Amino acid sequence: MNRPVALRSIFLAFWLACLFPGAALAASLPTPNILDAASPNAQEVSKLFWLVMGFSIFVMAIVTAFMIAGIVGGIRDRNKDEEPPQTHGNLKLEVAWTVIPLIILAILLVPTLRAIYQLDGFAAPDNAIEINVVGRQFWWEMAYVDSGVITANEVVAPVGTPLKLNLASADTMHSFWLPQLAGKTDLIPGNQRTLWFTPDREGVFYGQCAEICGDSHANMRLRLVALSPENYQTWLAAAQKPAEVPQAELAVAGSQLFIEKGCVNCHAVQGVNTYNRTGPDLSHIGSRTSIAAGMLPNTRENMIRWLRYTDTVKPGVAMPNLGLSQEEAESLSAYLETLTLPGFDMKRAFSGDKPAAEVAATLPRTNLASLEDKE
Ligand code: CUA
Repeated sequence: MNRPVALRSIFLAFWLACLFPGAALAASLPTPNILDAASPNAQEVSKLFWLVMGFSIFVMAIVTAFMIAGIVGGIRDRNKDEEPPQTHGNLKLEVAWTVIPLIILAILLVPTLRAIYQLDGFAAPDNAIEINVVGRQFWWEMAYVDSGVITANEVVAPVGTPLKLNLASADTMHSFWLPQLAGKTDLIPGNQRTLWFTPDREGVFYGQCAEICGDSHANMRLRLVALSPENYQTWLAAAQKPAEVPQAELAVAGSQLFIEKGCVNCHAVQGVNTYNRTGPDLSHIGSRTSIAAGMLPNTRENMIRWLRYTDTVKPGVAMPNLGLSQEEAESLSAYLETLTLPGFDMKRAFSGDKPAAEVAATLPRTNLASLEDKE
């Protein structure tokens, strides 16, 4: 084997070695798939994807066919003495490879413009539920315009009714992306963008900030919980009421710590205070499927971790590490657990066979291995 061929073989082996485990890993992770659309809006996006893909495969097939023909011809003629015919320019060919791509691009332009127009916020139907979404480092606030309900990191919505999201940023640029529901839309400081879509089936849909925004950009996640219209109405009524006052001793102690430790200065809780919106609204944190902006499943163990090692779980987070003891974190977690939607069980909110918590547990989460060492 001569040297260039040996080098090329090593490169090829290297790329294949990288490709296969990567592909296997990607296939094993439950990632949100734009091709598994859960709204007509996302369906438009995936249709465009297939259209572009179709033309790409067509072009690649032609180019590859010519390339293979050239290589085969070259190998066949390699022992011939005479030179192949020398050509300098070919008008017909040049016109062909200019005009054909122009036609393909023109064909792609029409459905693309149509989709951009259809999916833009201004095209939202009049019956849409309007939600003001504010992106912050590194979480999302969702404020329902008509009902006044405020939540964080999890949008709850009914199947079959359009949602109109007014997107704004409180600090730097973010991008709102629920791949199965709509294309990504940037949140630009000082500017308001709108986005709309209609969830077409029940479920928990995973989302992600899609614009580099700081240390924990990758940890700025979100979820959309799509409920049946009846369940949504029950949720909406529950979300407007404060959670029940805690009774258990541990939780009562936690509710006092919530005030003493200053949590109350940044977080609103219905029935305690409703004006501090520096941090996420915690009125019904006990009913959410995840904590820390979609990073961790909502369990007591995770809440204790989050409260004690905030900045390790989420680098760059605005919430200070309060230096809580294990006992303090336990009682605060016990209190936060009691902050549930009165009369509404999120875990049983789906008419399908999978409860929300189970669905949420299958979604991507943070690797907590590095935290285990700390404890
Ligand atoms: Cu917010 Cu990236």
